Amino acid sequence: MPTHKILFAASEAHPLIKTGGLGDVAGSLPIALQAQRQEVCLIMPAYHDLIIRAGKLTRIHPMLAGFPKGVRLLEGTLPNSKIKLWLVDAPDYFNRPGNPYLNPQGTDWPDNAQRFALFSRVVAAVAMNKAGLAWQPDIVHCNDWQCGLIPALLSLEATRPATVFTVHNLAYQGLFPAETFAALNLPASLWTTDSLEFYGQVSFIKGGLAHADMISTVSPTYAQEIRTPAYGCGLEGLLNHRAERLTGILNGADYTQWDPQHDTLIPYHYNAQSLQNKAANKAALQTRVGLPVAADIPVFAIISRLVEQKGIDLLLGSLPELLHHKIQFIMLGNGEPRLESAFSTLAAQHPTQVATQIGFNEELAHLIESGADLFVMPSLFEPCGLNQIYSLRYGTVPIVRRTGGLADTVVDATAETLKNRTATGIVFNEATPPALLTAFERALALYQKPALWQQVVGTGMKQDFSWKHSAKKYLAVYEQAIAWKEKDTKM
Ligand code: ADP
Ligand code: GLC
Repeated sequence: MPTHKILFAASEAHPLIKTGGLGDVAGSLPIALQAQRQEVCLIMPAYHDLIIRAGKLTRIHPMLAGFPKGVRLLEGTLPNSKIKLWLVDAPDYFNRPGNPYLNPQGTDWPDNAQRFALFSRVVAAVAMNKAGLAWQPDIVHCNDWQCGLIPALLSLEATRPATVFTVHNLAYQGLFPAETFAALNLPASLWTTDSLEFYGQVSFIKGGLAHADMISTVSPTYAQEIRTPAYGCGLEGLLNHRAERLTGILNGADYTQWDPQHDTLIPYHYNAQSLQNKAANKAALQTRVGLPVAADIPVFAIISRLVEQKGIDLLLGSLPELLHHKIQFIMLGNGEPRLESAFSTLAAQHPTQVATQIGFNEELAHLIESGADLFVMPSLFEPCGLNQIYSLRYGTVPIVRRTGGLADTVVDATAETLKNRTATGIVFNEATPPALLTAFERALALYQKPALWQQVVGTGMKQDFSWKHSAKKYLAVYEQAIAWKEKDTKM
C-alpha cells in the first residue's frame, strides 16, 4: 500500500479523554495505521482536562486567520505513541473541565453546535494547508457527528484531500434548530436538503454522510442494519442512496492495554494456561466491590453507559428472576439518572448479590474484565461494541444480543458450535426480558459443565481482534475514497 498523509479527526481519544468506545478507537487506530507505514496526525479539541494529560505542548501558530480571537493550534504527541497531535485551542469553546459533550448537570453544553462547527472549520483549514503547518493530507478521516461538517466544508474546495467519514453511532446526529445555522459561520450553500438540512434542522452527521467520499461504520452487520428503517434513524434513505460508498469495518482491540497477560491495571496476570490467576482476580474484585468472596458463585458483570441503546431496561427487567439463582451481579456505569437509581435500589435490596458502582472508572473496568465470569451486553443496537471483544480475551464469557458488532464477534454456544469448538459466548435474538433471562439460564447451564465451560473460555481467549486486520481494511477504503474524489472532482 502507498504511504498516505492522513489527518485523523476525533472528539475524544484515549488516554487523553474518553467517554466510550470512540475514545478507544481514536487512541489506537492511528497507531495501527502508522504501523502500516502511514503518516498519521491526530487532531482534537483542546479540552481543559485533555491539556492537563497531554504532556508537553508547543504553540505552533500564533493565531489562525479567519477565526475568533484566541483560536490557536497546539502541537504535541499522543501519549505512549509517536503520533503527532494537534489540538484546536479555543478557550471560550473547549476550556471547561469535565465531559467533552455534557455540562455538570449531564445535559448537552448549550453551545455544542458552535463548538464542533469551530473545530470542524479549523480541521478543514488544516486539511487545506491554510493553517501555517506546511502540510497537506491526502486523506481526512472524520469520526461521528462532531466531525460531520468537515467533509461538507471540504466538498466546496477544488483541490481538497479525499474524505472518509466513520459512523460510530448513527443515533447521535448533532441536530440543532435551523436558527443555529446562521451562528455557525458556514457557507450558505450548505443549507439545502442535499446537505446539512434535515427536516428543518441542522444535522452535523448529514454533512459526513452526504459529502464524504467514503462512509464506513464499525461493523459489517451495522453497515447493513443502518440501511433499514429500524436502525437508520431517518437517514436510511440517504445511506441507501450512497450504498456504494458505505462499508463496515470491525473495530480492533488494543491488546497492549486489554490483555490479561500484561494488563498493568489488574492484580494477577494470566492466560488460558493459568486461569487460577483469573480466580485470584475474581476474589480481588469481589472484595473491592463489597460482595462475599466465593469462588464457586458465577459473577455476571456489565460496564456501560447507562442509556437506552445498551438494553439496560431488558437487563433490569430480567435481573429479579436471575437473582433467584446463586449468582452475583456487578454493574459499573453512569448515565440516565433513572437507570443509575434503579441499579442502586437493586444493590440495596440484594446487598450480598448485587454491587453497583456509579461513575466512570478505567481501572475498575479492567479489574471487572479480569475477575468476572460472564459479561452482559443486551444492546438494542450496537455499532460495534468493544467490551465483548475485551471480555473474550479475558476469558469472561460474553452474553450478547444478536445485533451489529455483537453479532459479528461472538459465536453462540449451540450443540453444533460446541462440538466443532467454535463457540465463544451466548447470543440471543429478541429484545425482551424473557429472551435475556433464557440466555442467562443457558449461560448458567454451561457454567455448570466445567469441561465445556473451559472450552468456551479457551476458544474466546484465542480470538484475534487486533487492529492490524482492520487497519489494512481502512487502507483499502482510503484508496477507494481517493478514487471517488478524483472521479467526482473531474466532473
Ligand atoms: P460505547 O462506545 O457505545 O459506550 P463500547 O463497548 O464501544 O461502547 O465502548 C465502551 C468503552 O468505554 C469501553 O472501553 C468500556 O470499558 C468503557 N466504559 C464504558 N463505561 C465505563 C465506565 N463507567 N467506567 C469505565 N469504563 C467505561
Ligand atoms: C460507539 C458505539 C459502539 C462502538 C464505539 C466505537 O460509541 O456505540 O458500539 O464500539 O462507538 O466505534
